[in-house]
Amino acid sequence: MLTINNLSKCFYKGTENENIVFNKFNLNINSGECTAILGSNGCGKSTLFNIISGILSQDNGDIILSDRNINNLKENERSKYIGRVHQDPSMGVSPSLTILENISLSDKKGQKFSLKPLVNKNRIEEYVSKLKTLDLGLENKLNTEVKFLSGGQRQSLSLLMATFKKPELLLLDEHTAALDPKTSKLIMDKTQELINTHKITTMMISHNIRDAINYSDRIIMLKKGEIILDVKNGEITEKEIIKIYNSKNEDHSLLEAI
Ligand SMILES: Nc1ncnc2c1ncn2[C@@H]1O[C@H](COP(=O)(O)OP(=O)(O)O)[C@@H](O)[C@H]1O
Ligand SMILES: [Mg+2]
Repeated sequence: MLTINNLSKCFYKGTENENIVFNKFNLNINSGECTAILGSNGCGKSTLFNIISGILSQDNGDIILSDRNINNLKENERSKYIGRVHQDPSMGVSPSLTILENISLSDKKGQKFSLKPLVNKNRIEEYVSKLKTLDLGLENKLNTEVKFLSGGQRQSLSLLMATFKKPELLLLDEHTAALDPKTSKLIMDKTQELINTHKITTMMISHNIRDAINYSDRIIMLKKGEIILDVKNGEITEKEIIKIYNSKNEDHSLLEAI
């Protein structure tokens, strides 16, 4: 479904700060699966997402999505096929725009710039019905600017916006890390419901081994841009995953959440 072939990425090449993040990296993501990606800070998880979504360009290698090589597609062209939710609740939304305007933007994702008004009144009914599925009462706050929403409400809205057009691939980059445990669970359950309903292929970067176990089909662990573990969920126990993580990393931040 998504194939990454021979990916190489180096920051500050040829300088004293040269940083090789990926060197001939390969990965195959299966259609309809949720793949959790674990790994300590700085191992390249977000860089991988930035390259897949076209925010960063790779030095070498191919990104193939549903049999199409997307190397030459710009970020906004890729956004038709790829939805993304970030760690920072203010990143997936435009805080100074209203809920209605934000959803209208995601409804128009990938379309060429047009002089028509942002909000298409004929679409409001559908937006309201989708907002109702979040169960947060956001459908009654259509004209509220998003900056007035809580972190959890914003992440729910981001999730709805990222999946509004049923993307071929959904990228979740620690999208619950900035939330309290209760809200985090709420967003994880909502995430699972959305990806199961729409059968969206998902890659989920997580700082929490338990979330990876509870919500994914496959677990991958990265270290310095290399895959050091790749298992089907259930193949090995939580304890074994923790043991592998500890034996490969000095930074034990992954364990804080357990
Ligand atoms: N835009 C960038 N410019 C320069 N260096 C970057 C950039 N993005 C990431 N890096 C570096 O690449 C490495 C991997 O970062 P990142 O992918 O953000 O790690 P992770 O998400 O796994 O914590 C880090 O050393 C980071 O400093
Ligand atoms: Mg990151």
